[in-house]
Amino acid sequence: MKLSTSFITLALALSPFAAAQDDARTISLKPLVNSVALQALTSKLTLLGHAREFLKFSQLSGGTRAFGSKGHNATVSYIKTLLDLTGYYDTQLQTFPYLFSSGSATFAANNEEFTTKWFTYGPSGDVTALLVPVANLGCDASDYPAEVEGKIAFISRGTCPFGLKAALAGSAKAAGAIIYNNAPELISGGTLGAPSNDAGPYAPVASISGADAEKVLALLNAGTAVTGKLHVTATTETRYTSNVIATTKGGDKNNIVFSGGHTDSVPEGPGINDDGSGTIGLLDIALRLPLFSVKNAVRFGFWTAEEFGLVGSEHYVASLTPEEQQKIALYLNFDMIASPNFGYFIYDGDGSAFGTKGPDGSAHIEKTFEDWFKSKKLISAPTEFSGRSDYGPFLDVGIPSGGLFTGAEVKKTEEQAKWWGGEAGVSYDKCYHLKCDDLSNLHTEAWVQNTRAAAHSIATYARSLDGIPRGTRSVPSQSRLQGLSYDDRKHYSCGHEVFDL
Ligand SMILES: *[C@@H]1O[C@H](CO)[C@@H](O)[C@H](O)[C@H]1NC(C)=O
Ligand SMILES: [Zn+2]
Repeated sequence: MKLSTSFITLALALSPFAAAQDDARTISLKPLVNSVALQALTSKLTLLGHAREFLKFSQLSGGTRAFGSKGHNATVSYIKTLLDLTGYYDTQLQTFPYLFSSGSATFAANNEEFTTKWFTYGPSGDVTALLVPVANLGCDASDYPAEVEGKIAFISRGTCPFGLKAALAGSAKAAGAIIYNNAPELISGGTLGAPSNDAGPYAPVASISGADAEKVLALLNAGTAVTGKLHVTATTETRYTSNVIATTKGGDKNNIVFSGGHTDSVPEGPGINDDGSGTIGLLDIALRLPLFSVKNAVRFGFWTAEEFGLVGSEHYVASLTPEEQQKIALYLNFDMIASPNFGYFIYDGDGSAFGTKGPDGSAHIEKTFEDWFKSKKLISAPTEFSGRSDYGPFLDVGIPSGGLFTGAEVKKTEEQAKWWGGEAGVSYDKCYHLKCDDLSNLHTEAWVQNTRAAAHSIATYARSLDGIPRGTRSVPSQSRLQGLSYDDRKHYSCGHEVFDL
């Protein structure tokens, strides 16, 4: 990766690490970190400077920083390089393989273009051929007439998985397949379920809405020939990707204060709020922490492939021995902290609002954040402790957790608009998981406040773990995530999309 020299100069000027290059003689002279001092240096300009770099990285790969892309790798190198420059951390790239699958599709029938969706694991293809209706629901090889060979099979959704239909179409030598919804709307987040299927090779496949299918079926039923033009572009392959883990050289490594955010975006966009905002907030704190000494070691986790189902954080937690897990006193998560129509949400660690409480100690973390917002005369609200971001794997092994969130696709209420400003009836982040999650999709005031709140929590726990139980944890034998399929995992990412059959 090529770092822009001007930005490195800027980062060096704005952050204290140049002066804080560690050596044994100066370390003891540094003051113990304290909340006010660590918060004080938070600046909108520094945060935005990093965000501009992230946006440039996304441009290396067609507007995304999805795991497996150049834009993501550049993000990872940038973070690692800046942290290494401080000399204050032991940093590690934890590199591992994971299956990547991404694609898009277009379809026109007799030259009328329809909104078309790709299926996860579906192969690429480019075919112009007559549409041949498949009998019944296309769940049996006998539903596919001989004349489907070399043509586009036109199949209804229902009864059996998409993967079987695409494989039976391939087995009948169809050149392509359209699976149309059995309801008027589009099929969202469809998947073939696995990279291959025993019933046959997948035909290039895409889906259209039930409403659009009605138009096509009317023609077919009237005996009119319909020529389909199907284009699918897809990549499914194993890709290597990395977490960045940085631990302060100083501090008690039996009592680690851990914070994290994810470095990847969805394939659809640059992910500047999700989760550029959290990653950058943490990076900013990590670049200022070298001014201080810490009592408890501070560790940062910059996670890959969160959007593919908490893959990086899960990989990391699973790589730890129970003894290493025990050394982590708590985990703080920062995923989306600058949503344009933001709310100040704190994970509901005590379960008082949503009923799912975190491991003992999580309530203390929630209170630490609540007290900070109160002290700034800002209103905060709890958000469900659902496990749908990188704190999930930490919860699963009993590590007390918490964190901040400014909201995604859910709409702001009237009451919340009174608390926080912004627009009622509009999503907290209207560009959530979209191409427009760019530099204009950041609420800089909320971003600065949340970065300060994060700095407060890190400084507080780096000084003292009072209130956080440090006894042996009862660790569940298997985490919720292990054993989930590729697509089920995606339920657990920032997204709330439902992958249905
Ligand atoms: C990203 O980094 C990984 C791990 O180092 C490497 O294997 C991969 O080729 C890189 N991908 C791109 C697109 O640069
Ligand atoms: Zn996220």
